[in-house]
Amino acid sequence: MANIKEVAALAGVSTTTVSHVINETRFVAEETRERVFAAMRDLNYAPSLVARSLKVKETNSIGMLVTTSSNPFFAEVVRGVERYCFEQGYNLMLGNTEGQAETALSYLKMMLRKRVDGLLIMCSEGQQEVFNQLDWLKSLPVVVMDWGMENGEVDLIADNSHRGGYLATRHLLGLGHTAIGCITGPHSRAPANQRQAGFEQAMQEAGLTVNPGWIQEGDFDCASGAAAMTRLLALPERPTALFVCNDMMAMGVISAAHQAGLEIPRDLSIVGYDNVALAQFMSPPLTTVNQPKEELGRLAVTRLLARINGEPIANRMITVDPDLVIRHSCAPFSSPNSKPV
Ligand code: RIB
Repeated sequence: MANIKEVAALAGVSTTTVSHVINETRFVAEETRERVFAAMRDLNYAPSLVARSLKVKETNSIGMLVTTSSNPFFAEVVRGVERYCFEQGYNLMLGNTEGQAETALSYLKMMLRKRVDGLLIMCSEGQQEVFNQLDWLKSLPVVVMDWGMENGEVDLIADNSHRGGYLATRHLLGLGHTAIGCITGPHSRAPANQRQAGFEQAMQEAGLTVNPGWIQEGDFDCASGAAAMTRLLALPERPTALFVCNDMMAMGVISAAHQAGLEIPRDLSIVGYDNVALAQFMSPPLTTVNQPKEELGRLAVTRLLARINGEPIANRMITVDPDLVIRHSCAPFSSPNSKPV
C-alpha cells in the first residue's frame, strides 16, 4: 500500500501539501490538487480512516447529485430530502448534473472541497465515474437513490418499478382494454426497463400478446412522449390504452393526442408514473402510479446519517412499493369510441 511520502514525491509536493489536500485544511491551487489526486489514484493510495477522521470537525452538510431539476419528480424528492436534512440539523448542497458525467464529477469535487459529511447520488449518468473518483477516498458515506449500483457495495433506495408497471397495466386490463401499448423511459435506466417488464408480465398473465410496434421508447421528457404518440398515430392500428412510464411523457402524449383530435379518455386511456404534483391538474387529471417521494427521501437520509454516525449497517437495496392513484384519464373499453381505428 502506497504511503503519503510516495504520493508527495509523485505529485512533486510536500507531504504537508498532500495532507492539506486530503483534509481540506488549507487552500491548495486546483492544479496542485489535481496532481495530488492523480498521484493518489495512480498509487491507489487511500488515506486511512484515522487520518480522515482527524480532519476538521464534521460540517453537518450533505451533498446530493441529481439528474435534473427540470423534471418535478426529482424536485419533489429533493424537497423531501432537504426537509428531513433540516430536521436533523444538516444542510443540503445540491448538484444538478443534467445527465452529464463530467458535470457530476465537477460537483463531486466541489462537495469534497466543502467537506460534505455524506453524499446522496440520484443521477443516472456518471455514477460509475463518481464512484471511481470516490473509491480512493473510501471514507465518504454514500447512498444511491432511484437506480444504479446494484452491486451491493452501497445502499440503494428505490421504488419497486416492476410492481408499478404491473399495477398500471392491471388497471387498464380491468377496464376491458386488450390493445394496450407502453411508452418507456430510456433503456439505459433500470426503472424504465423494470416498468416495461411489469407491463409485459401483466399482459402475459392476461393471455395477451404485446404488439411490438406499440412499445415506444422515450427519454422521460414531455417532448419524447409527444413524439412517441405521433409515431403510434401513424401506425395502421393504434392501441386503445397506454401505460406511459412517467408523468412528463404522459403530458406529451396527451398533448399530441389532443392535437390529433383524440379525446382522453374517450378515445384513448392513459396511465402515467411518478404522480408529480401537477398530474392532478392535467387535462384530464392523470391516473398514475405514485412513487412515495417523501418516504424515499426520508429513507435515504436516514440511512446516510446512520453511516455518517458510524453505525455498522450492512449495505442494502431497499425498495418501496408504489400505489395507483385513479383520476380521470382512463375509461372502460367500449366498442364504438375506443375500438382500434
Ligand atoms: O420522471 C423521471 C423518472 O426518472 C422517474 O420515474 C424516476 O424513477 C427516474 O428514474
